[in-house]
Amino acid sequence: MPLASLPVLRHPTAYDMQRALLHAPQLAPRDYHHIKAAPLSGALGAEVTGVDLAGLGASALAEIADALSDHLVLVFPGQALAPAGQIAFARRLGPVKTWPYARPMPGYPELTELVSGPSDIHNFGGGWHTDSSTFPRPPAFTVLQCIEGPDAGGDTSFANQYLAWESLPEAVRGALAGLRLIHATSKGFGDHSRSTGSSHVTTTPVLVPAEHEGLESSHPVARTHPVTGRKALYVNAGFADRFDGWSPHQSQPLLDALAAHGGIPEFTCRVRWRPGTLVVWDNRCCLHYAHNDYAGQRRVMRRAVVEGEVPL
Ligand code: SIN
Repeated sequence: MPLASLPVLRHPTAYDMQRALLHAPQLAPRDYHHIKAAPLSGALGAEVTGVDLAGLGASALAEIADALSDHLVLVFPGQALAPAGQIAFARRLGPVKTWPYARPMPGYPELTELVSGPSDIHNFGGGWHTDSSTFPRPPAFTVLQCIEGPDAGGDTSFANQYLAWESLPEAVRGALAGLRLIHATSKGFGDHSRSTGSSHVTTTPVLVPAEHEGLESSHPVARTHPVTGRKALYVNAGFADRFDGWSPHQSQPLLDALAAHGGIPEFTCRVRWRPGTLVVWDNRCCLHYAHNDYAGQRRVMRRAVVEGEVPL
């Protein structure tokens, strides 16, 4: 298992950052007619204005799809969609499924309310991860809307995993190309979130149904995006348990190195939420991290997930 000890994975200066960061769509957004897209950082993310998601025409939707391909994370301020409107928008992106690990919002099975209360210690989604990578068909998109936010804090960061993959030296990419990773529910939600509900991650408990407790899926370490055809590093510290055919002990050093690489600050952007801000991100090519820095305050989000394909 020579990969685990490759020095290049322990020395960030060996990464080819500059080549990876020459990311044309982010630096020069397309010329849109129905939306305005302003990049959030050199790596990924754009704030999209000039559009009402509640009354979206086909041409504006097509531009949003293009912008998602280019920027990976789209931030729509001032939308304040009603629950039915958020579900309807998510459905324009693909099939919307009920997320099985939390009680759905009453009357709206496709929405999960993520509520953090003032006395919560942990938050939902703290730590770099991609949503539900333990599923055989993990969500392609997450559509998250802020209902109530702290005055300051509670931002979400995102990291571009195309850049994470492209910045690895060619020899490392070659060595990783055929490798698969086991994503495990037990790794992500662990003992504190079993169906007994013995403790709460946030005011909204995560309740893993018994049939999901042992759920694992094997996915490629580098997945090819079905729309852009680009490869993205598909490793996340939240759910990655071990490489296929390796023990957890053998896997950990390389997992740690790749997970740390995926969250390098130059690959990131940071979103500040306001009530009514809606964000869509592509789980197939970016990681996200919910900041847990708003102790004593409430944060309420509504989330819908759009089913994706089997990662290739
Ligand atoms: C999530 O991890 O899906 C939620 C992220 C957030 O609440 O910022």
